[in-house]
Amino acid sequence: MYDFRPADGTPKPELYRDLLSAADALTADETDGVANMANVAALLWEFLPDVNWTGFYRTDPNSEDGELVLGPFAGRPACIRIPRGKGVCGAAAARGETQLVPDVHAFPGHIACDSETASELVVPVLRDGDVIAVIDLDSPRAARFDEEDRDGIEALRSEEHTSELQSQ
Ligand code: SME
Repeated sequence: MYDFRPADGTPKPELYRDLLSAADALTADETDGVANMANVAALLWEFLPDVNWTGFYRTDPNSEDGELVLGPFAGRPACIRIPRGKGVCGAAAARGETQLVPDVHAFPGHIACDSETASELVVPVLRDGDVIAVIDLDSPRAARFDEEDRDGIEALRSEEHTSELQSQ
């Protein structure tokens, strides 16, 4: 059994350091991208307080216009397909840039999969300059995510930590 859950109130730098180590430990010996993304989605769910959805949308390799398709994730069932450029996830994929959204209702075109979601952080995962997936974190608390969260998740998707996620 794996028990990676951090203590309540762990400061963010320590939390993200431990999250990266746990992600490395869980994915290092596995080459299946779906298995690794599933464990990373579950780790994000375990580690991060005040979240109601953690997971991935992947660029569908069969879609001519780079549509995103759901999974793996932790949380409630969600929208299955997101056109590139639509919503927060689609914007992150189209621009190749992290979207830190303190109030989703103020974001033009936000896709409301869960009406409880108030804030969101979406980080693109790149391979050879292409966005192959995005990591999506949702929270029921407004302005839940800040620059420390952005830096922590960007470190998680960085080359050394996500080569195991990209073997799909
Ligand atoms: N809110 C997202 C859609 C994905 S779900 O929140 C899981 C968006 O606007 O891209």
